[in-house]
Amino acid sequence: MKAIHVGLLGFGTVGRGTWDVLRRNQEEILRRAGRPIEINWIATRTLDRAREATRGVAGVNLANDPALVVRHPDVDIVCELIGGVDPARQLVLDAIEHGKHVVTANKALLAQHGTEIFAAAHAKGVMVGFEAAVAGGIPIIKALREGLTANRIEWIAGIINGTSNFILSEMRSRGASFETVLREAQALGYAEADPTFDVEGIDAAHKLAIMASIAFGVPMQFEKAYAEGITKLTREDIRYAEELGYRIKLIGLARRARDGIELRVHPTLIPAKRLIANVEGAMNAVLVKGDAVGATLYYGQGAGAEPTASAVIADLVDVTRMHTADPEHRVPHLAFRADRLSDLPFLPMAEVATSYYLRMRVEDQPGVLADIARILADRGISIDAMIQKEPSEGEAQTDIILLTHLCVEGRVVEAIRAIEALPTVAGQVTRIRLEALA
Ligand code: NDP
Ligand code: HSE
Repeated sequence: MKAIHVGLLGFGTVGRGTWDVLRRNQEEILRRAGRPIEINWIATRTLDRAREATRGVAGVNLANDPALVVRHPDVDIVCELIGGVDPARQLVLDAIEHGKHVVTANKALLAQHGTEIFAAAHAKGVMVGFEAAVAGGIPIIKALREGLTANRIEWIAGIINGTSNFILSEMRSRGASFETVLREAQALGYAEADPTFDVEGIDAAHKLAIMASIAFGVPMQFEKAYAEGITKLTREDIRYAEELGYRIKLIGLARRARDGIELRVHPTLIPAKRLIANVEGAMNAVLVKGDAVGATLYYGQGAGAEPTASAVIADLVDVTRMHTADPEHRVPHLAFRADRLSDLPFLPMAEVATSYYLRMRVEDQPGVLADIARILADRGISIDAMIQKEPSEGEAQTDIILLTHLCVEGRVVEAIRAIEALPTVAGQVTRIRLEALA
């Protein structure tokens, strides 16, 4: 039985994990795929790790130049695990041009250039597998594209960045500092090469843009996503949220609203009793609400070598099983047929409706709360809960924390501006969005 040959580009965390799992489970994978799947080329910048891992294994060629592998006649599937846009984009397009199927874990590449890559693959009749690009080992792409295909998806809410969730969990549970935990996440192989992508919400926005496209049948539009990360969160906000019965999580939310699609990533208060609020460490969880199935929850390791390799290899098996099928009868890359995507607009943040946690530092004087309540009421924003702290010994200022009912972001931005202009309010108002996810 002829083996299917894989050219691996990149031998870092995920590349090495893919090599290890594929070798360890080769018998079972063969029984599932129907053909042996063998890595016969590895291209990476520094070859030492690959040389050490492949020592004594016959038939594996090593190269510094990935361009050689994407064109090699004895490679059937190119597995891109380099990351970033350059040179990954050109390598993937070259591989497709040379008739290779592609498997990639690269969400940054797909969120920004997915439309071009899928069109090229469609034209060449090859497949692009990208299960590992969203939520690491959780088979969420397959669930959205195939398992939930009967549904009109209403919303998706996910903890989809392991690094940020790990940082928030460790800050909350052991009071560790942001910088310390970020260094730990990097050492554990969770963080992106540039960790700003993780902590500023960009990586989560990449993944959300991919899921939204599959869920709603719209072209990939990462540039329409709102991304706000966890760098401005303070331990006080985490503590106050707990006092109010909430946890703060970095949530990616894609929702079909009346006039368009909300696509946003930001720290969010979630009721502590929700399962998703209790997802800790580098674990990911994605809640999907379909009209027929109701809410479904997918949970698992969102980052790391072998969890991600699990998803990469699932795609290698899928491509192996499917690559002889007529392209017209394969599962479409984005679930909907390329000529049937909808032009539903994405909403600007000012039109998004959600609830808010607002924290402000105020003078401890009579009338301050009344002024704030009036500003909110004038804009139709109603208060759901409130904490007013006693000032510390010798201090003239204190914290007021408010939770609002559902309201439109544009009005809240206006209200915050008016509150910050009050002479009795010190500094800026902290605003964190709140989702009940009921
Ligand atoms: P790493 O940085 O650990 O590995 C990248 C690999 O690519 C290294 O072997 C590196 O070589 C090699 N490389 C980089 N540039 C080139 C180049 N120009 N030519 C040849 N080789 C190159 O990244 P990860 O394994 O963590 O991530 C890979 C991809 O998987 C990324 O797209 C990432 O977003 C995605 N991903 C990662 C997850 C994780 O948990 N780490 C989870 C899900 C997806 P060298 O070491 O010599 O620089
Ligand atoms: N840096 C990413 C994360 C890797 O922390 O979630 C998985 O995509």
